[in-house]
Amino acid sequence: MKILGTGSALPKKVVSNDDLAQVMDTSDEWIRTRTGIERRHIAVEETTTSLAVEACKKALEQSKVSIDELDLIVAATVSSDYIYPTLSCEIQAAIGAKNATAFDISAGCSGFLFALATADAYLRTGRYKNALILGAETLSKMMDWSDRSTCVLFGDGAGAAVVSAEGNQLLGMVQGSDGARGTVLKCKNRPVHNLYKQEAGQSLAYSYTEMDGSAVYKFAVRTVPNAIANVLEQAKVPVADVKYFLLHQANLRIIEAVAKRMNQPLEKFPTILEECGNISAASVPSLLDQIHREGKLSKGDKIVMAGFGAGLTWGACVLEW
Ligand code: COA
Repeated sequence: MKILGTGSALPKKVVSNDDLAQVMDTSDEWIRTRTGIERRHIAVEETTTSLAVEACKKALEQSKVSIDELDLIVAATVSSDYIYPTLSCEIQAAIGAKNATAFDISAGCSGFLFALATADAYLRTGRYKNALILGAETLSKMMDWSDRSTCVLFGDGAGAAVVSAEGNQLLGMVQGSDGARGTVLKCKNRPVHNLYKQEAGQSLAYSYTEMDGSAVYKFAVRTVPNAIANVLEQAKVPVADVKYFLLHQANLRIIEAVAKRMNQPLEKFPTILEECGNISAASVPSLLDQIHREGKLSKGDKIVMAGFGAGLTWGACVLEW
């Protein structure tokens, strides 16, 4: 497979750390020093679908793949506007990709890596030729805004890529899951609400994101360096040959710890989390789009992309641009 185009989108409303400090007991100093996040974009007028469509249109325009040639859409999200129809079907309708098969996958913040792996597997079989893959989230609607230890970390956004079966850009891919540790980062779906189960005092209120930040931190700093080492070994690429490591943008301290464990300079780890916080499945494709549009990728460059998050799940790949 080969990436032919990338795109990303953020909501218009920018919320700085100081803005949050106006409405909850927090401070710019606490958020910056613990996470590196300076601001995030929060959807007010936008939806997960509208952000996704904006990112997808940019990726498609750059790719030069026509809408009719698109035969697969894989959207990674945990915050689609509807439970059904899926986000991918909403995108299909919005862009008029009538020849595409469209479905969503849910793998938390690893979602884009899982979408890439899924599309690659389909493209290798020859069943499809041109895929649109993306991560899009409006996590702001899933936050408990009275839980300052979690809500300050997340934001809304979308990132997309158009990938074609022609080319051999993907040199290696690893994925993993550990459902037994999933409770450290969770958000319940709707409560059971049927004719046969109604308990006194049963609440039908929705749940919001709950996180054991310290457990997630430890998971990330142990798992990501291992996943990257494994994928580099699989691809037979020495770590020193990698130009950029595009990590899921959760927390600058996690990125610094991974760089240190891998004995690699921090300059190889570009970031966007200062601007948008943790945008879950949208973070890796948005970062890819940023460095791509800044002209930082040349033919032959080797880059690693790595995601980790709810599930727990993780994924890492090596690409040769
Ligand atoms: N503003 C001010 N104070 C806050 C705060 C906020 N937004 N959130 C929590 N605090 C307070 C707590 O109440 C606690 O106070 P106490 O010590 O008086 O009880 C204290 O800060 C906790 O601070 P500390 O233990 O230093 O936090 P930390 O260094 O463990 O950092 C996280 C917390 C959440 C930033 C960190 O654990 C983390 O980044 N985890 C990974 C989370 C993540 O990336 N999740 C998504 C992965 S996909």
